Amino acid sequence: MNDPRSMLRTARLTADEAGLAEAAAILKRGGLVAFPTETVYGLGADATNAEAVAGIYAAKERPSFNPLISHLESFEAAKVQGLFDETAQKLAEAFWPGPLTLVVPVAPTCTVSDLARAGLDSVGLRVPAHPLAHALLTATGRPVAAPSANRSGRVSPTDADHVLGDLDGRIDAVLEGGASDVGVESTIIACLGGTPRLLRPGGVPREAIEALIGQHLDTGPEGGKGPLAPGMLASHYAPRAQVRLNATEIKPGEAALLFGPTPLQGAEQAKTHLNLSKNGDPKEAAAHLFSYLRQLDASGAQTIAVAPVPETGLGEAINDRLRRAAAER
Ligand code: TXA
Ligand code: MG
Repeated sequence: MNDPRSMLRTARLTADEAGLAEAAAILKRGGLVAFPTETVYGLGADATNAEAVAGIYAAKERPSFNPLISHLESFEAAKVQGLFDETAQKLAEAFWPGPLTLVVPVAPTCTVSDLARAGLDSVGLRVPAHPLAHALLTATGRPVAAPSANRSGRVSPTDADHVLGDLDGRIDAVLEGGASDVGVESTIIACLGGTPRLLRPGGVPREAIEALIGQHLDTGPEGGKGPLAPGMLASHYAPRAQVRLNATEIKPGEAALLFGPTPLQGAEQAKTHLNLSKNGDPKEAAAHLFSYLRQLDASGAQTIAVAPVPETGLGEAINDRLRRAAAER
């Protein structure tokens, strides 16, 4: 069921008007397109479409939901998605378009899906400099979520052949644009109030950033304990309610997060309930996960009881995220 390997023939799209139009059309209908940026090739999906974003995790076989970077055609377009304080604005004006990602608070007008943000109240934004990336984003007209276009645990791709070596048959298309010249991912800076924080070193050197803003960057996760593991920030989002995993029955007054066609005992006593996927499709479940957790939390229930989710496919990432949500705090 839902094995991305069996489904697709990956098209090679050339870097001309027709290729760009096709790439944009695939993105708009929820497909996956790898495209060149100046850092590495990205595996793009419409960031506003949670099901499309779930497809990224499935194709990459990522075992957990890291927040993804959403790519925009311009600073103007980025301002619709995030709130830029004075420092963030300065950095955007100096280094965009280019290999810099800014993590900023979500704007009220943000359209990036909860899944692409891994449920956080912040959003990672980047305006890439590569002319093809820029043309694709303009043609698509919406934020495009894109991690590096490789399978989880493999090296980031800097040309279309690398991408196909990892993802042929798992994605709809790759837009061929030659070699990426930076070759390492973007530098990621969080501007969330207080001293800006270096989350990941990358294409823009730290010194250039510190020179511009006239201060040293903090390093590592909030609280400053050791190096930042990718995806660790996802653990910052936790529901207010207790989370009870692998529930086999629902107790009166609990909120219930269900999965699959089989009803859980006591579900009628739930304060409220939502089903991640009535068909038991892990990709659909992933698309709903973060927004459903939020909705259930907003019901005011003390406890969110979560039905078992099988470990297959995206189930591994879903369970990773659920275990974090349930962890002692
Ligand atoms: O160069 C690049 O940045 C490439 C190309 C394709 O643009 N993209 C890339 O994306 O490396 P990605 O999605 O793999 O980067 C994800 C990292 C996360 O591991 C996290 O460190 C950071 O971006 N990130 C994104 N959104 C965040 C958020 N809301 N809060 C904290 N960190 C965030
Ligand atoms: Mg990567």
